[in-house]
Amino acid sequence: MHLAMIGVGYVGLVSGACFAEAGQTVICMDVDPQKIEGLRRGEIPIYEPGLEDFVRRNVAAGRLSFTTDLNDAVDRSQVIFICVGTPSREDGSADLHYVDEVARGIGRTMDAYKVIVNKSTVPVGTARRVRRLVSKELARRGLDLEFDVVSNPEFLREGSALHDFMQPDRTVVGVESAKARQLMAELYRYWTEKKFPLYFMDVASAEMTKYAANAFLATKITFMNEIANLCALSGANIDQVRVGIGSDSRIGDRFLFPGLGYGGSCFPKDVKALIYMGKTMGYNFNILEATNLVNQAQRHRFIFTIGSFFDHQLDGKTLALWGLAFKPNTDDIREAPALTVMERLLDLGADLRVYDPVAMLEVQKHYENYPYPERIVYAPTPEAALEGADALVINTEWDVFRQFDVSRLKNLLKAPVVFDGRNIYDPAQMKQAGIHYFYIGKPIY
Ligand SMILES: NC(=O)c1ccc[n+]([C@@H]2O[C@H](COP(=O)([O-])OP(=O)(O)OC[C@H]3O[C@@H](n4cnc5c(N)ncnc54)[C@H](O)[C@@H]3O)[C@@H](O)[C@H]2O)c1
Repeated sequence: MHLAMIGVGYVGLVSGACFAEAGQTVICMDVDPQKIEGLRRGEIPIYEPGLEDFVRRNVAAGRLSFTTDLNDAVDRSQVIFICVGTPSREDGSADLHYVDEVARGIGRTMDAYKVIVNKSTVPVGTARRVRRLVSKELARRGLDLEFDVVSNPEFLREGSALHDFMQPDRTVVGVESAKARQLMAELYRYWTEKKFPLYFMDVASAEMTKYAANAFLATKITFMNEIANLCALSGANIDQVRVGIGSDSRIGDRFLFPGLGYGGSCFPKDVKALIYMGKTMGYNFNILEATNLVNQAQRHRFIFTIGSFFDHQLDGKTLALWGLAFKPNTDDIREAPALTVMERLLDLGADLRVYDPVAMLEVQKHYENYPYPERIVYAPTPEAALEGADALVINTEWDVFRQFDVSRLKNLLKAPVVFDGRNIYDPAQMKQAGIHYFYIGKPIY
């Protein structure tokens, strides 16, 4: 089958490479010429474990190619995936202007039956909106071509995207016609033959499923953070509570680790978009309003703990920061809690020595206009970040930090103080190592 992926970001590039791996012929189109030229030279624009091998292998096999020409991509493909961003607008709604642009572009160029698939995360009703935009462009050209619009939301996680795409818990496809259903079933046969579940449903339900999944997970994380905060106040041990509830199969033991809260390009915007969607229908999604607020507050609680330790006087203090990406195994810093921590600590007067295994370049770009560049030192190693630091602050639970020999911390830091926003160490071991150790849910009494 010939496929086009429109938008070559995390979702478009990973999906394109994976469909090619499954034997399809895929053309990836993006409006960013630098990205496409780079990909043609074999340069992968994002950090995603295993992606470079997938891309190289499938380009060499002639199954994967790149273009900036939408007409060419549409022309060559039976199934066209829309994979562009759907960021938050000021009011929390999903900004659909990239999706609209692609839909109009497809309508301006298609000249035979196509299946147009929304893989971007989009509110209920977007498939209908895409249909309207394509039809309008076709009408302008005096054409009345048959086409289908399908919803096929993506559930991959950055950092394990290839695994998630190749071995999904499920694939969800919302369809309106038997023809589109048949084509999508054929496309996903590689997976259904391997017994990975494929659920067909109506389009609105597929659109809602994506938001429901992300909002549920964001709420689960947030609930656990609230329990951790209560543990700190009550003297209960969050680790023991986590094991106690996680062993209940109705709850499950994943997504129960307390921390700095969720970030990234999906959970924050999808929670807000679902709240907004409710509002447009006269419905107040109260749980999600609270999820959003508590998640923001969680970062500030952590920063307050750091500030309190230094009597809110951080002038002349140097803090080491480990972890800048919003989670491990990615260089994505969109809505990363670490950025809030960095900015607030700088505001409070601290100098920072920061380290992340892969997100350093992204952070440097993000702060290139920061007025006091000398106050942020980009350290080449975790050890180098600790030099002369009055405390270590951990924002992201990279394995390299988990595996760090904590008995070395006391000698490497100027003062043996660690604020751990991801609870990666054993408090007993830290005590033994002579470290003043703060973590999420640490009993206050
Ligand atoms: N990143 C994730 O982990 C993830 C997971 C599941 C779903 N999603 C959803 O998938 C969608 C894409 O997310 P992403 O993280 O891949 O975004 P991204 O920002 O990484 O990539 C989007 C790409 O689309 C391109 N683009 C914009 N307008 C275009 C146009 N008119 N024509 C062609 N290309 C265009 C941009 O240049 C960019 O390369 C979003 O709706 C997101 O919510 C993301």
